Amino acid sequence: MDKDIDIKVKVWRQRSATEKGRFETYELKGVSQSASFLEMLDILNNQLVHEGVEPVVYDHDCREGICGTCSLYINGHPHGPDTQITTCQLHMRHFNDGDTITVEPWRSAGFPVIRDLMVDRSSFDKIQQAGGFVSVNTGGTPDANSIPVPKHKAELSMDAAACVGCGACVAACKNGSAMLFVSAKVSQYALLPQGRPEAKKRAKAMLAKMDELGFGNCTNTRACELECPKGVSISNIARLNREFIGAKCSD
Ligand code: FES
Repeated sequence: MDKDIDIKVKVWRQRSATEKGRFETYELKGVSQSASFLEMLDILNNQLVHEGVEPVVYDHDCREGICGTCSLYINGHPHGPDTQITTCQLHMRHFNDGDTITVEPWRSAGFPVIRDLMVDRSSFDKIQQAGGFVSVNTGGTPDANSIPVPKHKAELSMDAAACVGCGACVAACKNGSAMLFVSAKVSQYALLPQGRPEAKKRAKAMLAKMDELGFGNCTNTRACELECPKGVSISNIARLNREFIGAKCSD
């Protein structure tokens, strides 16, 4: 049964990307284990405001595990100690009375710190804009059944499309690689007939943009797959490599 717990929260504080950061530790008393992790941070910020201390900056939007914005490194794990959930779905029942919880931003050259726990993940938007789409010639709406899609391919495509672009894969990877993200976005289209016409161009353009923005490459440690809140498989990275090699061979 959930109870109220006293905890210490060790939070990374940093005023900007160019200033040096540091950990600050705050005590919180009587936090309900039914509270979500973000609600706990809200309680902390209320306390800080009352004490005249600047509240901790952190990112969030949907609080439903959909948008991927709430990206925090908690006790050494992207999105915390539970598996296949985003930070907003983590609850305080995963922590005990007397715990010290360490909260850090994503640490990657591709995600510079904006302030405290908030990082700039617009690099993912740039990779997506490089080719993560299907060009559509406007015209009459085609019949729903006019392009048959095998069921197993539709399911693999949907599994890849589950990626919410949170960046946990990059934060977990010793190389700071964005390969799981890129491979999910490439795969979701490569598996469908609608995505095939631009498949070669897409794989090359998205990987080139990933390299340009300073993300590392994949050395198959699988940390990304383990920490992905949506369980995206690294088999997508194998597909991305096949798509890329196929595209280069036909140049
Ligand atoms: S706030 Fe949207 S996934 Fe957590």
